[in-house]
Amino acid sequence: MSAPASPRFPPPLLPLLCCPICQSPLRQEATALRCVARHGFDVARQGYVNLLPGHRAPGNADTQSMVAARETFLARGHYEPLAALLAEHAARLTGADATEGCVLDVGAGTGHYLARVLDRCPALTGLAIDISRFAARRAARAHARAGALIADGERTLPIRNHSVALALSVFAPRNVTELHRILNRRGALLIVTPTDQHLTQLIQPMGLLSVDARKEERLHTRLRATFKPGVREALELTLRLTRDDAFHIAAMGPSAFHASTEELRRRADVLPELLTVSASFTVASYHRVERNGSAPA
Ligand SMILES: C[S@@+](CC[C@H](N)C(=O)[O-])C[C@H]1O[C@@H](n2cnc3c(N)ncnc32)[C@H](O)[C@@H]1O
Ligand SMILES: [Zn+2]
Repeated sequence: MSAPASPRFPPPLLPLLCCPICQSPLRQEATALRCVARHGFDVARQGYVNLLPGHRAPGNADTQSMVAARETFLARGHYEPLAALLAEHAARLTGADATEGCVLDVGAGTGHYLARVLDRCPALTGLAIDISRFAARRAARAHARAGALIADGERTLPIRNHSVALALSVFAPRNVTELHRILNRRGALLIVTPTDQHLTQLIQPMGLLSVDARKEERLHTRLRATFKPGVREALELTLRLTRDDAFHIAAMGPSAFHASTEELRRRADVLPELLTVSASFTVASYHRVERNGSAPA
C-alpha cells in the first residue's frame, strides 16, 4: 500500500502569506510552512494551516456542531439568491477581464460563498480565513482554487501588503485597518450584513439574537476614512422552512453559544410544520482609497 501523500498548502497561494510572528514570507518545507527565522506551522492533513500566533483560545470560533449545521443548511439552497448576488458583485468588482488575483474571505465558515464567487470568476484564486478549525477544515476543500487558514480576522492578518484583489466579509467580524493594508490599490471589499428584519419570525420561538438596527450605519462610519462606498443592495427573501431548517438556522448561529443542541431541537419541535420566514440582507461594496482620500488613477 502506498503512503498517503503529505499535506500541501496550495502553492499558488503561498506568496500571499506571511509569518504571523515576524511577517517574513513563508514556504513549504516537508509538512510545514516556514519563514527564514524558522518559525514553523504544520499543514493539516486536510490542507489548511493554523497561523494563529501562540495558543490563544479562539473565544468566538464556531464549534464543530455549528459548522456542521451551517453546512447542512446552506446545502439546502435557501440562501442561494444571496450566493448568486455575491458572485455577480464579485465578478463586476474584479472585472470581466481579470486574469489573476485572490479573493480573501474573512470569517469564511465552510467556504460556501467563496466557492460560489470562484465558480463565477474562473481566473481568481481564493483564501478562506476562519478562527474555527472546524470551519477551516471544511473551507480547505470548498473549491479546487481555494486554500484555508486558521487566523484571527479581528487582528493582524498573516497576509502580505496589497496582495488581495477582493475581500469578502459575510456575517463575520472584520478588521478595517487590516483589510485596507492587504487589499491591492484597486481592491474592493464586499460586505454582507443582516438587517433588523432578518429572521424576525424565529427570534422569539428559537431564541435567536436580534440584529441591532444601527449595525450597518456603525460599520459604514468605521469604513469611511479608508474606503469609498460603492453599490449597496438590499436582498429580501421569503423562506419556506421546515422545523428541521429552523433548527439548523439556530444551530449554525450565535444563539448556539447560549443553548444546547437538544434545547434548540426542543424549540424547533413545537413550531408549525412549515414556516414562512423573511431573510433580509444588505450587500455593500467599498473601494479602497489611499489615506489622503484619493482613489487610484
Ligand atoms: C456567522 S458565521 C459566517 C460564516 C460564513 N461567512 C457564512 O456566511 O456561511 C461567522 C464565522 O466567523 C468566524 N469567526 C468568528 N470570529 C472570528 C475571528 N475573530 N476571525 C476569523 N473568523 C472568525 C466563525 O468561526 C464563523 O465561522
Ligand atoms: Zn517568522
